[in-house]
Amino acid sequence: MEQQIEQILQQALNELQSASQAAQLQAFSVQYLGRKGFVTQYLRNISQLPAEQRPLAGKRANEIKNILEEALQKALQEIETRQAAEDVGIDVSLPGRAAFHGSMHPITQITRQICEIFSSMGFAVAEGPEVELDHYNFESLNIPKNHPARDMQDTFYVSEAIVLRTHTSPIQVRYMEKHTPPVKIIAPGKVYRCDSDITHTPMFHQVEGLVVGEAISFGDLKGILTVFVHQMFDDQTSLRFRPSFFPFTEPSAEVDILCVMCRGKGCRVCKQTGWLEVLGSGMVHPAVFENVGYDTSRYSGFAFGMGVERIAMLKFGIDDIRKYYENDIRFLKQF
Ligand code: DAH
Repeated sequence: MEQQIEQILQQALNELQSASQAAQLQAFSVQYLGRKGFVTQYLRNISQLPAEQRPLAGKRANEIKNILEEALQKALQEIETRQAAEDVGIDVSLPGRAAFHGSMHPITQITRQICEIFSSMGFAVAEGPEVELDHYNFESLNIPKNHPARDMQDTFYVSEAIVLRTHTSPIQVRYMEKHTPPVKIIAPGKVYRCDSDITHTPMFHQVEGLVVGEAISFGDLKGILTVFVHQMFDDQTSLRFRPSFFPFTEPSAEVDILCVMCRGKGCRVCKQTGWLEVLGSGMVHPAVFENVGYDTSRYSGFAFGMGVERIAMLKFGIDDIRKYYENDIRFLKQF
């Protein structure tokens, strides 16, 4: 009798598998689970078994009843789903179309990586508008109208007083206007310059950094940027601070890193110098602090700005910046 119920189970499952119509399932239900069905009959016959066999046989028969009820429900659902699809003209027997997975753009990946490194050193992330007032983009950063330093950045003017921001530095000023020191922020974002060639696109990304407090020194700037470069590349990548000029910092420095391609030997990427320029930096100019009402006798600070595309090109070994924005899936898929 035990064998018999297992056979019934097998047979029932086979039948369910080949059933493709709701009517077949109806018949199945009557045949196996109905009042006179196999399983019900079997349950009834258990009373004729020797007493010691009854509990086990009863348990198994109930299990089988549950298995079949569940399988029947599932089969019913499948048939209903298929019917619904066919009703609206979908052929479920056709192979499906694979859905392509998107992935993060390499520039987004690198921006996030930069932000994570600075966040881990306690920096908050700040943002600002891309369409910016001339006041914030230039004047408040100690770049007056007609100052020759404006020539460093080919600006898209929206009107006399409004520009597409040429750098993320205006975010510094906007942030300082609203917060008192200590300040420790980075500001990632898109910037715009009227420039286009193998290393320039009219839109690109920068990450700005600003730290203000009491007794902040150039040594702090060097320390923070060294940690950043070591984490972004590796701790064999040394840094070199070269005197430079920015109207909003004094003193100012360009930061070079040891060429990540040739490790200083000299190659095409570093133009045989062994070094790569990756960011601008310096101690915030007192004129900038005065513009936001900070007490220059009490506070000092440093700032820096870097191009994300430049970092990404070095990280990924890409030699033409325009590749990032051609939307060629074959290129983007590699990251
Ligand atoms: N804003 C500069 C640029 O776009 C980069 C920069 C240099 C930002 C020095 C800074 C800085 O905050 O201190 O070329």
